[in-house]
Amino acid sequence: MCGIIGYTGGSQVLPKLFCGLESLEYRGYDSAGIAFYDTKAGMLCLKEKGRVSEIRTLAAGYERDMGRKIDAHCGIGHTRWATHGKPSDLNSHPHCTSDVSLVHNGIIENYAALREELSRRGYRFLSETDTEAAANLIDYYYKQTEDPISAIRAAIREIRGSYAFGILFHDRPSMIYAVRKDSPLILASGEDGNYIASDIPAILKYTDQYYRLEEGEIATVSPALITVYRDGGASFTPEYEKITWSVDAAEKEGFPHFMLKEIHEEPRAVRDTLSSVLSSDIEAFFAENEFDTINIVACGTAMHAGLIGKFMTEKLARIPVNVYIASEFRYQDPILGSRDLVILISQSGETADTIAALRLAKERGAHTLAVVNVIGSTVAREADRMILTLAGPEISVASTKAYSSQITVMYVISIKLAELRGRLSPGEANALLEELGSKVPAAIEEVIGQKEKIRLLAGEFLQCPSVFFIGRGLDCLLASEGSLKLKEITYIHSEAYAAGEMKHGTISLITDGTPVIALATDKKLFEKTLSNIKEVKTRGAKVILVCPDADHADPSVCDFRIGLPALNESYAPFTAIAALQLLAYYTAVLRGCDVDRPRNLAKSVTVE
Ligand code: M6R
Repeated sequence: MCGIIGYTGGSQVLPKLFCGLESLEYRGYDSAGIAFYDTKAGMLCLKEKGRVSEIRTLAAGYERDMGRKIDAHCGIGHTRWATHGKPSDLNSHPHCTSDVSLVHNGIIENYAALREELSRRGYRFLSETDTEAAANLIDYYYKQTEDPISAIRAAIREIRGSYAFGILFHDRPSMIYAVRKDSPLILASGEDGNYIASDIPAILKYTDQYYRLEEGEIATVSPALITVYRDGGASFTPEYEKITWSVDAAEKEGFPHFMLKEIHEEPRAVRDTLSSVLSSDIEAFFAENEFDTINIVACGTAMHAGLIGKFMTEKLARIPVNVYIASEFRYQDPILGSRDLVILISQSGETADTIAALRLAKERGAHTLAVVNVIGSTVAREADRMILTLAGPEISVASTKAYSSQITVMYVISIKLAELRGRLSPGEANALLEELGSKVPAAIEEVIGQKEKIRLLAGEFLQCPSVFFIGRGLDCLLASEGSLKLKEITYIHSEAYAAGEMKHGTISLITDGTPVIALATDKKLFEKTLSNIKEVKTRGAKVILVCPDADHADPSVCDFRIGLPALNESYAPFTAIAALQLLAYYTAVLRGCDVDRPRNLAKSVTVE
């Protein structure tokens, strides 16, 4: 949620800030702003409700008015996803006082009390944000101590909540200060200067050397040097890690949207993730530990991947698995101890609810296993063990290749557990894994090959107020993910239903022309699903049937068909979801939606 970039060095800062912010817009995009030190005018702040492009325009207007180019080599920038205070010019970051400019990711929980106290001390508040309290508090302590580190340290002692701060002190024109708690922030060292950023894509064009700031560490960033201060006084120059992503991986490579590019990357993501999980020590981990319960905790799409994990583990290994929505985990007061396993699934590894669930599981003594896409993320670092999904950077807000990678891990876990329990012979397990590594990627490619046909089908949804997804068994779980994808990027209301459950109430919503996407990938369940399809069809539904061998489906049961390649039925989620993602994608494009940055959403939800 929200993106931060900062640069200080020999180059002009504005292009760096704009480029960094544009690559971070997937984290939030309802307002943006920059603060920088102009060599002639001193500290300047440009911010506005809207996209980064509007700040570019604002800067160009400023240059026109001044009759000269801005000349600045140090600055910070922010792109916002509003939490406290609506998107507006005043609520945008940076928040600037007389001495301090600050950008913030996270939420300050005790901001109301801080505002009250600071108002008593004479501070006036211009915005409705929690962040302004932090800016004023640091300003207050800076005026007392005249030392940035002491001021930051004193302020964070009083701040409750989560934060990554990028801070400029106006009388130190080439320095950036940074600190974080429960919200990620990296420091990066480049040839022409140094950076802070909330995520790697922001700095990827300039350097591949980065350091992940730890909780409570304070950093000073000058053009030539980055220094990190730990509480207690010790300071050090960080040891940098190398970013292994390529710039290309974080760019569109000729695709009109990241989402389409990322769907095309699914075959590769499945293959790479399979190698990653097979080369991990996961088999030994399960062999060495007997668990009383296995629990999967995640949010959104990642939670839907968890549902596939539960289904397959129960089917193949006959081990019961619980799946929790991370934001509800603590309220269910889960019964956990040292013989229980909690698997956290998260693309970003920074989802606040998933982190909170992980911490609760650890508090209760459970074993924790993270399935994450971002190495070094909070979930990755705090869990006892980690399996890395190798989806590569996922930029589009709608999760696609991360889901395929997450279910890849879920399948491997279920197969390995089944083998360890003697429910699959080594030969059977290997055959399943072999199919996962070879036939599944090829089958996904085949589905992607039908994208033109799916694009034409998307036209059927344009004016529909509501769409239903139905299925049985695995298809019922897939329906939830298909429905989420459609609603999040097209803004069409949609619901996922167990096919057999429709007639217990919801079928009353089916009227002439209501689209129903019927998933029927399991031959054993086909007849029963077909009865449910007929139930909605006779009430006027426009049925889109998604199944293998679609050409042979009785034309009277459906209006349109999407055929899936022949594959072991257990692996149908890989192909069916690619078709549903493409359908959602093309519908969003036809409706003129901002596919990669749907309204009200952000890629990484770092608030609870
Ligand atoms: O980064 P995470 O996997 O923890 O994110 C969890 C959800 O916010 C995420 O899967 C969300 O539902 C997707 N953007 C939906 O496409």
